[in-house]
Parts: sequence; structure tokens; C-alpha cells
Amino acid sequence: MKRLLAALLLGGCGNPAEAPPHVEPAMRASEPWSDAWILAEGQRYLDDDDFRRSALEASITEPTNVYSATRLSAYGLGSRGWDGLPEWTPRVHAVDASVVDGLRASREVRLPDQAAPLWNGVRPTSFEGWAALGRRVFFEYPLRPEPQAAHALARPSLAQEVGLVEVAGVWPGVVAFEDIDGAAKVGITCALCHVSVERGAAIEGRARRSLDYGRMRLAWHEQTGAPVSAELADRMRSWGPGRADITADDDEDPVAIVDLWGLRELRHLTQAATLTHGHPAALAIRQETQILHANRERTRPPRELAWALAVYLYALTPPPARGGGDARAIERGANVFADACASCHADPSGAGAPVAAKRVGTDANLATGAARGTGMYRPAPLIRVADAAPYLHDGSVGSLVALFGRERFRDDYRGPRGVGAVKGHAYGVDLSADTRDDLIAFLRAR
Ligand code: HEC
Ligand code: HEC
Repeated sequence: MKRLLAALLLGGCGNPAEAPPHVEPAMRASEPWSDAWILAEGQRYLDDDDFRRSALEASITEPTNVYSATRLSAYGLGSRGWDGLPEWTPRVHAVDASVVDGLRASREVRLPDQAAPLWNGVRPTSFEGWAALGRRVFFEYPLRPEPQAAHALARPSLAQEVGLVEVAGVWPGVVAFEDIDGAAKVGITCALCHVSVERGAAIEGRARRSLDYGRMRLAWHEQTGAPVSAELADRMRSWGPGRADITADDDEDPVAIVDLWGLRELRHLTQAATLTHGHPAALAIRQETQILHANRERTRPPRELAWALAVYLYALTPPPARGGGDARAIERGANVFADACASCHADPSGAGAPVAAKRVGTDANLATGAARGTGMYRPAPLIRVADAAPYLHDGSVGSLVALFGRERFRDDYRGPRGVGAVKGHAYGVDLSADTRDDLIAFLRAR
């Protein structure tokens, strides 16, 4: 049925058997998750209200958690709920030397005159065109005003310490923009958490594991005296680099920021598999609702921008694998993986069907939490996994060697989150040192 609709939308012949051989775009559009198919399916997300609602419902793994219940009660309801929010395309300007100098000199955010609306209102027509628009959204659409980021930018050493860095004249992840009240502010964007900066270059899609978001926010509280409970302050201190809480609750569930590789292959999104990803609309709706929720449900982004973001995410490709290992070791490692791991890490990306948190045995807070919980964890995708330390959803294990060893089960294990046992995921922990090295050689090549 999907194929048929995709073919019809492209103006091709509805019956593939009768399609003349030269109708190539329509034929390619019938292959799920191909560029052409994604492009065609976008029309339904953009233009069909009923489809959007049913796509939302199909994307919910567990309707009772707060994330899902909120969306079910407000998304895709026509005149009610979030559909009635005003669309907002802000005027933006990258945070560059002029913005930072202004902040450092006077603590004022000055929006340069040439700041223009992020989008001119014209829908792109090609996959590449949508991806290019999505890239702008990723780097420049403010999720919300963030005085804590402005505060850090005004202080060079603090900025550096919390992971706000300049690349080729701009600070990716922060943006100067005109808020709905007309004031110039600094906001954060997707790139704050999902672009890493390595040796002076930006790697789009890799988690910024140097970002200490909790510390950035605490530094602002300390400087301004804005009230924060001692308990929340302790929690933010404990996040450490590379972890953030993206729910709007009381910052209780910091999780590791993830890489955004191979999203087309992932049938579930987020580490607790909160979303079921059977259709690209699931991702577009995730992004649309993330942005409107982050902006405290005051406005919503044009759907074109949420869709563009999804296309951009599908277009991301990882940098080359480290590799470099001995081919025979990699092959032996592949056999170990097939025996001990592939039952769960079954898909080409390394992800697989979600597993009960009890069974995998890692810290269950995220999986069973009221915020986004489903009772399950998704077997982690393993694309460029060698570059993705620290490991597990809470970033509690520092290296692959530590993950596949028994030392971390002891109470005196010193991991990235302090001293204490890290239980669960007891797979591959009884391998001989040689076999474990083979397995890691295999993982390094992924
Ligand atoms: C403050 C940091 C932060 C910001 C800003 C942020 N994210 Fe994330 N993102 C995360 C974290 C942390 C996770 C992991 C959530 C989980 O597993 O529960 C995540 C997960 C995701 C995922 C799911 C990936 C997967 O493997 O399932 C996608 C897609 C994503 N983010 C895209 C975006 C986009 C697009 C934006 C901008 C609209 C954005 N994020 C803004 C921190 C952030
Ligand atoms: C019973 C299912 C299951 C088996 C078997 C299994 N895994 Fe996992 N794996 C998971 C789940 C679920 C997670 C996520 C757990 C979490 O974050 O708490 C995970 C996480 C991981 C991670 C962490 C990745 C990251 O980026 O944080 C790696 C690496 C990994 N598994 C590799 C392996 C290898 C190698 C094997 C075989 C020796 C294996 N797994 C066996 C289910 C499994």
C-alpha cells in the first residue's frame, strides 16, 4: 500500500507490473528508505493531517509514559492542541566573533542587522535541497533561549571548559536570534549536542562528548544567584561531560548523547526505544514536537523545517571507521560476535529489537522511568562504536575493554561516573584476553 501511494504521489503508474521501464524515479521511490521514497513520503507528513495523527500513534511504543501521553493528547488534533500554535521562523545569525565580542564587552546580545529569517517559505524539491535546509535548521534553529550559554560565551575559559568551541569563525550549537518578544537572545540548537569538534573540524552527527551542559547551567546559577535547589545542583554536577537531560522534567534522567549514524536503519529511536520508527514521519514528528516543547509550547516550527531536519539526519554519514586491525583478528572477532552478540545486535547497524531492561540488567532508571520509559532498552547501534565511549545509555563504562571485563562488577570500579559497580550487559565478559581483543578489533572496524 505504501509503495502504491508513493508511486501515485510521484505521478507514476500505480501498478508496478505495468510501469514502463523508463519511469525510474517512481521505481526507486518504491524501495522503502531510499532517498526517493523518503522524498515522496514527505508529502504525506506535510500535507495530510489525518496521516500525521496516525503516524504519531504508530510511532508510540508505550502510550503511558509522560513523553507519549503528552504527544497523544496534543499532537495532530486539527484545531485543538499544538496544531493551533503559531508557526515561527525566527531571524537568526550564527554566533560569530561579532556576537561573542559584544557579549564579552557588554554582556549584551546584539543581533547583526543582516540577520535574516531562517527560511524563505519556499519548499525544496529535491532530497539534497531538503537536506541542505535541514542542515540550517540543525545548526541555527533556536530550541529555546539559553542565558546559560550566553553567560558561558562571555567568559572564554568557561566556554572552553564546558565544550563551547569555535570552528572556522562560528560557535556551532549556539545562535543569536530575535525571540518572539522582539529581544535579541542566545539560543541553543541541535548542533550543541550532536556536533563534535575534533582537531579544529566539526563532525556533524557525532555526539559532543566534551559538552558539560550541567556545569554550564550551574556556572550561570552561581554567577547570577538565580535559585536552584541543592539537590538539583548536585544532580547537574553529577552529569559530567557528554550527558544531558532532554526531557522538560526536573532534570532527573541524564543520558549519554548519542551519535546520529544510520538512522534509516533504526527501527526504534532513543535508547529506551521510546519511539517506533516504521516511517520517516516518526522522526519528523519527534523533531517537530521536540522543538515546540523546548520552546515551552509557545510556537511551533513550520512542518517544512521539521521534515527538512529529518531528511538531513537521514543524509548524515559517519567518518571512516578506525579499522587498522589485522584482518584475521577481525574475522575471528566477527565469529565471536555472531555467536555471542548477534541475537540482540541483529540489524546491519548493530541495533535490534528492544530487550527487557531486566534481562539486560543495566541501570533500569531510564527504561522504567515515567518520563520516557518502555520497560526496555534498544540494543545499541554499533556504527563507529569504537569512537563512542563512554558506553551504555548512562555513559557509565569508559572503554570497550572495561565493558567486556568483570572488573566493572566490583564496588571499587572507577568509571567515568565515579566509583561503584556497573552491573548488567554481562555478555562477552568471560572471554579470554585474546578472544576479547579479536572482538574489539571487529568492533573497531565497524
Ligand atoms: C542538550 C543536548 C541535546 C540537544 C540540544 C539535542 N539533542 Fe538529540 N539527543 C540528546 C540525547 C542525550 C539523546 C539520547 C536520548 C535517549 O536515548 O533517550 C538524543 C537523541 C537524539 C536522537 C535519537 C537517536 C537515536 O539513536 O535513537 C535524535 C534523532 C536526535 N537526538 C536529534 C536531535 C535533533 C534533530 C536536535 C535539534 C532539534 C537535537 N537532537 C537536540 C541530546 C540533545
Ligand atoms: C540480550 C541482548 C544483548 C546481547 C546478547 C548483547 N547485547 Fe550489547 N547491548 C544490548 C542492549 C540492550 C544495550 C544497551 C544497554 C544500555 O544502554 O543500558 C547494549 C549495549 C551494547 C554496547 C554499548 C554501545 C554504546 O554505544 O553505548 C556495546 C558496545 C555492545 N552492546 C556490544 C555487545 C557485544 C560485543 C555483545 C556480545 C559479546 C553484546 N553486546 C551482546 C543488548 C545485548
